[in-house]
Parts: sequence; structure tokens; C-alpha cells
Amino acid sequence: MYTTKITGLGSFVPEQIVTNDDLAKIMDTNDAWIQERTGIKERRHIKKGDGNSTATMGAEAAKIAIERAGLTPDDIDMIIFATLSPDMYFPGCGVQVQELLGMKTIPALDVRNQCSGFIYGVSVADQFIKTGMYTNIVVIGSENHSGGLDMTTRGRSVSVIFGDGAGAAVLTRNETATQGILSTHLHSEGSYAKELSLMGPSTGHWVPELIAEDPKEEIPYFPYMNGQLVFKNAVVRFSEAINEGLQANGLEASAIDMLIPHQANLRIAQFIQKKFGLSDDQVFNNIQKYGNTTAASIPIALTEAWEAGKIKEGDLVVLAAFGSGFTWGSAMIEW
Ligand code: ACO
Repeated sequence: MYTTKITGLGSFVPEQIVTNDDLAKIMDTNDAWIQERTGIKERRHIKKGDGNSTATMGAEAAKIAIERAGLTPDDIDMIIFATLSPDMYFPGCGVQVQELLGMKTIPALDVRNQCSGFIYGVSVADQFIKTGMYTNIVVIGSENHSGGLDMTTRGRSVSVIFGDGAGAAVLTRNETATQGILSTHLHSEGSYAKELSLMGPSTGHWVPELIAEDPKEEIPYFPYMNGQLVFKNAVVRFSEAINEGLQANGLEASAIDMLIPHQANLRIAQFIQKKFGLSDDQVFNNIQKYGNTTAASIPIALTEAWEAGKIKEGDLVVLAAFGSGFTWGSAMIEW
């Protein structure tokens, strides 16, 4: 068996910054409430007409990751694309990236695991690479939340949390050393499927447009979140996923050099940091700037941590996520 190494990282966010004060102009909320509950100061939103979509942002992030891996799009053997907000109900965004980057007719797989999507994608890529089937796989997480949120007071407990953006990683077969992904751990619990869900149709028919057509329409088209239940489950499942990874590799929490938690809510990340006795240097958070970008949050954070020089060769890097499904998981990586 081979091992799998992350050889390139990239991220892309739209230019438009939306601060908490900006949101307070369109709904009954305020900066203090949002920061106190979530840690979020601002997020990025696609601006109508700026040319960005889930697929294009993902392609931009992938382009950077591929270049940083010292590769060209022709070297990539497979695309794995994680999102809950695809441009079209079908086909998925993976095939759009294949076209946007002018890639060969390689396989393109879309992953529908919401906040855990990137970790699921990394795990799938790892299996293909370990067994020798593929050499280079690009795993992308990208979300266009803004167009589909209820940006009125009615939707404030959900809409202040989410932001747009994309991140990507190139995973490459490591021929010469054991260094790389040590293990991945994935879980789901469908009995909570409705507790964090969007029952309505696709992003091809934006919710505000549907409601404009029929103002009396009740809203299965907006995301629903049972915030307190999600919070309670998140802290338990994040911890389990990290512990599972540590135990599988015979490691203690003190061995973690960098934990990149899915950027769900700063309070969840701080709880986990405290629980595992980690210092500020051992955990990376950027939810303050981007909000919760779901499948994109881990690859954006990983990219920024790496760009800031916070991840070094040989470090133990732990990725952990929990989200809608419920789904959760972790990836243990020797960098
Ligand atoms: N601005 C101002 N007030 C608000 C807002 C807002 N944006 N949203 C809700 N409120 C009000 C409510 O109406 C309520 O008012 P009331 O007491 O008069 O009825 C009050 O604030 C408290 O509302 P709660 O929903 O009880 O607030 P809570 O303290 O639970 O915080 C939150 C809500 C932040 C969503 C919290 O439950 C949470 O963090 N849950 C975890 C969910 C999470 O992190 N989701 C991320 C996506 S899932 C994932 O990635 C894992």
C-alpha cells in the first residue's frame, strides 16, 4: 500500500465583505449577539453579477492548489467535489471543474456530506491513492450559501452564521516515505437528518425568488437548524472523532501540532480546544472572517494555516468536522 500526502492547497473567497453591522441593516440582529454566540465578525457573500458560483470558486481554489503542488490540470487523475450548494441540482460541480480547468476526461465525484464533506472527500481520495489506482486527486470544498438564506429577521438564527467560499487540496501518492494521511474516520446518524436541513428545491431556483412569486408560501426552501441540538451533538461528536483518530494511531492529544476544526462556531472550537488541553498555537480558526463555509471551511482554514507558516514538515495535523446528516469525521495527517 502507498501513503497519501497533501502536496498543494488553495482557497478562494468572493470579494464582497458583509459585516455584522451590514446584516443589522437588513434584519433585527447586532454585532454583539453574533460575536458572542458564534465569534463571527464578517463573512463573504457572492455579489450578483460578480461571476462567482460554487463551481467557479471551487475551480479557482483547485487551480491554486494544483499549481502549488507543482502540477498542471493534466496531471490530475480525479476530481472530488464536496458541497451542499451546487450550481445545479444535477449534474454536480465536479464535472464543471473538469470543464473549467480544461482537464482530461477524468472521473468527477460529488460528495454530499455538508460540513463533513471535505473530510469524506479526503477519505475517498486516500483510498483510491493508497491502493495505487490514482496518483493525484484534487479534493474541493465550495459553498454558495448567500443566495439561498432567509436574509430577514425570520431567518436570522441561521443566516448570520453562513458565508461563501472555496478551498482545495491536491492529494498525491507518496512513493518514498510513510509520511502522509495516517487514518480517516467517518460516521453518520440519519435519525437527526431533519435537525439541520434544507427541504426545498435546488439553488437553481433561489428561495427569495420563489417567495416573491408567492409571498404566502411557507418556507421549506430555507435551511432549518435546531441550533442548540446541533451544538450539543457537535461538541460530543467532534471529541469522539478526534479521540478515535488519536487512539487508532496510539497518540495522545499533546501530540497534535495543529487541529483544524470545521469552522462551525467559534464556541464549539474553543470548547474542543479546552477539552483536549490545546494551546492557541495548536488550533487554527478563521470563522471570524468567513463565517461557516460548510464543506469549504476546513480547506480554507488549512490553506491559511499553511500560508501563515503554522504547519511544518513532520507535524501532526488533525482535521475534524461535524455537521448536517448528522455526519462527522476526522483525518490524521503526518505533514
Ligand atoms: N440576532 C439577534 N438575536 C437572535 C439572532 C440573531 N441573529 N438569532 C436568534 N436570536 C434570538 C432568538 O430569537 C432568541 O430570542 P428570545 O430569547 O427572545 O426568544 C435568542 O436570540 C436566543 O436564541 P437561541 O436560538 O436560543 O440562541 P442560542 O444561544 O442557541 O444561539 C446559535 C443560537 C448561535 C445558532 C447556537 O444555537 C449555536 O451556535 N448552535 C450550534 C449550531 C452551529 O454551530 N451551527 C453551525 C452550522 S452546523 C455545523 O456546521 C456543525
